[in-house]
Amino acid sequence: MVLFCRSAAFAVRQAASFIFTGTRRYSTNAPFKFILASKKGDKENVGLIQLNRPKALNALCDLLMREVNEALDHFEEDSQVGAVVITGSEKVFAAGADIKEMHNWTFPACYTGNFLAHWNRVCSAKKPVIAAVNGLALGGGCEMAMMCDIIYAGEKAQFGQPEILLGTIPGAGGTQRLTRAVGKSLAMEMVLTGKRLTAQEAKQAGLVSGVFPVQQLVPEAIRCGERIASNSKIITAMAKEAINAAFELPLAEGNRLEKKLFYATFATEDRKEGMTAFLEKRKASFKDK
Ligand code: HXC
Repeated sequence: MVLFCRSAAFAVRQAASFIFTGTRRYSTNAPFKFILASKKGDKENVGLIQLNRPKALNALCDLLMREVNEALDHFEEDSQVGAVVITGSEKVFAAGADIKEMHNWTFPACYTGNFLAHWNRVCSAKKPVIAAVNGLALGGGCEMAMMCDIIYAGEKAQFGQPEILLGTIPGAGGTQRLTRAVGKSLAMEMVLTGKRLTAQEAKQAGLVSGVFPVQQLVPEAIRCGERIASNSKIITAMAKEAINAAFELPLAEGNRLEKKLFYATFATEDRKEGMTAFLEKRKASFKDK
């Protein structure tokens, strides 16, 4: 669905930095239907996307996913923003893809229509994305969290891939990312039985990097975003690219890419500033160049 025409979108993006407040939608100034988007942190340098479809437990319908993508596009273009946090409610991060929407799908329509093609936007973000998962992250919800670069969990969070119970399998990277994160045996157990992991189990298995009391989860994720945003955005993007390559490339090729990116940092002003600041015993002031 086209939400607004290209030229209008361009004009609005130019103005976005000052019309983007609270839950307003920068494109039309109308609110999003299924998400809230705002800038957080002392310097407003962290984008926050909150999934907000409580009646359906944040089931990831087509419109919700398009709104997430639109908000991400905006945060990517906003030079003030250095990281993005995606969260849900205290009860649920997301209960998966929308089963009511999927119910009448057919194979030919899925295959030729390339359904789910727009689900990958989170993975292609240049800026780091942090999932702050309170409550349930099931199916596509768990997959969306795993597309993020860092996962923080509230202490009541649960992660699961229950698609098998619906007669289907994960379709947004669940079998691949979960296996890389927690290993074959646990991934098999979760995907083949629908077994859920608690936050503590997810931490132990390496799926999440931090577990926090429910109320502190989002502030902690924003703090993490602020720490990331205080560094050079260009160097951060290089570091993120290098780590992500570890999931795609054999070790020797990954090391070669890392070396090239390391060399590339020496083409930036921020590398010079970082090392100069260290030698001058002061805090670096990065210009993202
Ligand atoms: C659409 C959903 C939904 C979903 C919940 N709802 N999950 N609607 N898609 N994935 C709706 C219910 O229909 C209900 O709406 C309302 O949310 C509240 O849900 P309840 O079941 O009444 O709540 P509760 O008893 O608390 O149980 C919570 C729950 C359960 C355990 C999360 O809802 C559940 O099992 N949901 C499905 C989880 C799942 O299987 N996820 C994987 C989906 S497949 P009404 O209108 O009846 O009040 C998937 C594939 C991804 O994600 C592939 C790639 C995209």
